[in-house]
Amino acid sequence: MGSENQFPLEIEDVEPGLTKTLLEYFTGEMTGFVRVGPKKYFFPQKYKQEAAKIYNMPVRPTDVYVTSYPRSGTTWTQELVWMIANDLDYETSNAIPLTERYPFLEFSICVHPENKKKFIEENSHSKENLELLEAVCQPGTDLLAATTSPRFIKSHMPLSLLPPTLLDTAKMVYVARDPRDVVVSFYHLNRLMRTQGYTGDFKTYWNFFIKDLHHWTPFFEHLKEAWEQRDHPNMLFLFYEELSKDLPTSVRRVAKFFDKQYTDEEIDRLCDHLSIDNFKNNKSVNYDVMKLLGILIPGEQAFIRKGKAGGWRDYFDEEMTEQGEKWIADNLRDTDLRFPHMNL
Ligand code: A3P
Repeated sequence: MGSENQFPLEIEDVEPGLTKTLLEYFTGEMTGFVRVGPKKYFFPQKYKQEAAKIYNMPVRPTDVYVTSYPRSGTTWTQELVWMIANDLDYETSNAIPLTERYPFLEFSICVHPENKKKFIEENSHSKENLELLEAVCQPGTDLLAATTSPRFIKSHMPLSLLPPTLLDTAKMVYVARDPRDVVVSFYHLNRLMRTQGYTGDFKTYWNFFIKDLHHWTPFFEHLKEAWEQRDHPNMLFLFYEELSKDLPTSVRRVAKFFDKQYTDEEIDRLCDHLSIDNFKNNKSVNYDVMKLLGILIPGEQAFIRKGKAGGWRDYFDEEMTEQGEKWIADNLRDTDLRFPHMNL
């Protein structure tokens, strides 16, 4: 077996009874789910095909990774990082969608073959759409192998499932967010995207999430792996809540990380470009390609949604609020990871 096929962690199928329940709620998956390694990261079954390819992917010193647990402000951070690293090139940023500037490393694991067949049928009227669809659904590792440097890469993979040499070779910006806002935001995305096709209510979704029965969970293990590397010279660890409270300071931190100098006026203009209102209307960052290909379900909330910190309060009843507090406190007990806006 070639080294590119080697994957050191165990991948186990989720038990059949649980699978049956999950498939009823998540209609975008049709086969089942797996848990990976000692932390039991949870993925759709297609991860099995990609695990070794991702783990053994060649890393280039000029690569820039933006990583996170989903719905933590990845897109916001991607655009911020790309602009800083590319000398504030608004022209290219406006002309080339973020999805093209940043291949999404593991998106293909969320595209079940049966769904892909449907998407192809539905887009068969347009050669251009079919090409776009192929690019979106292609394994990120294949796409990245053919991408010229410097490469900008989006991933929600925890560090332990990425190439072990990554941080010593390339730069990574990781963004973390209050899990209660993450879960609200991810709930909406799971309803929006046919690749997920979530049919249940919010409370049921919350219970899957805190039981680590959802893509890319366990949430806190994901964060802790990156947090432990926060002082690595190639790692910049950001919080959504910090960006939200004081974007210019976060922009300056990113600029320092990439060894770039910008004037106050340039930073002000960039902050305006990155504001939620401008983002919602910016076709280059708002995932219009997914709409074009029919991967989004009409009538659900948009990919770039509210863009606020603390909105979870409108979704949590008393029981969930208590559960959430306990769950967060339990998971922060053995670590010095602290969210800047929480009094813990
Ligand atoms: P909400 O659903 O709470 O609004 P990701 O990019 O990781 O999927 O994260 C998506 C979340 O970031 C969504 O949160 C989205 O609205 C928010 N977001 C995206 N762009 C933003 C911006 N420019 N300012 C603030 N929040 C933003």
